Amino acid sequence: MRHVVFNSKGGVGKSSIVCNLAAVSAAEGKRTLVVDLDPQANATHYLLGPRARDAKPNLTDFFQETLGLRLLTSEAETWVHSTPFENLSIMASDLGLAELQPKLESRYKIYKLRKLLDRLDAFDVIFLDTPPALNFFTTSALISADSCLIPFDCDEFSRRALMQLLEAVEEIREDHNSDLEVRGIVVNLFQMRARLPQQMVDELFEGDLPILEPYITASVKMRESHQAHCPLVYRAPGHKLSQQFRELYATLDGPR
Ligand SMILES: Nc1ncnc2c1ncn2[C@@H]1O[C@H](COP(=O)(O)OP(=O)(O)OP(=O)(O)O)[C@@H](O)[C@H]1O
Ligand SMILES: [Mg+2]
Repeated sequence: MRHVVFNSKGGVGKSSIVCNLAAVSAAEGKRTLVVDLDPQANATHYLLGPRARDAKPNLTDFFQETLGLRLLTSEAETWVHSTPFENLSIMASDLGLAELQPKLESRYKIYKLRKLLDRLDAFDVIFLDTPPALNFFTTSALISADSCLIPFDCDEFSRRALMQLLEAVEEIREDHNSDLEVRGIVVNLFQMRARLPQQMVDELFEGDLPILEPYITASVKMRESHQAHCPLVYRAPGHKLSQQFRELYATLDGPR
């Protein structure tokens, strides 16, 4: 199963959701890979901390290679690196990805990532993290995945952007990847006691959108786990958010 976590809005929790769901998957014994397609490399740093610079060759090197004239002969595993966490590996990124983008776009390399992942058979579950834009890297990720999760941060601008976002995903499904399914909307940064977030989620339900449960609530522990370079589900397994991530993962893992 390949899950892409995508929303063109920034700061809605894409990297947090990717790393924590991947951590749950790995803790359950599934061989799990995180693919970081964001030049900001937040997922890479969340999982590796200062060791991120050793996770080379990374996806910048991979995409660089696709622009060369050489045939891609390297084993797909060349780009995979282990993390400090059991069963959890990563294809890392860095700022260099951003520089490559115009060249990759003009030379139509959007299928290269999918081909790379198709050559990998060492993983049961793959989570792809994306930058906050609809660009070459998000398109490549949406072409490579079979499940799309869309984080929603209970914000009015996000709610209004959601339809447009779903149309963009639908277009990619039609034009490039008939396997792609919007698995659901992940409600993040939910404030249990505030009325407005609940009202917004209710409106999404009325729009007939597939909302996944449970919602991920807002907690300062998430930010602390980023600083500690350790997914919250490992750092505080008993915390409410960790439980929510485990339940959310179970809904993805189970029957549709
Ligand atoms: N449930 C949560 N509770 C509290 N803080 C959260 C939660 N989810 C995410 N955050 C915080 O919000 C910020 C943005 O989260 P994150 O980096 O995961 O979002 P993103 O969508 O990947 O951002 P970008 O679009 O920049 O890649 C981070 O500081 C993170 O710690
Ligand atoms: Mg991110």
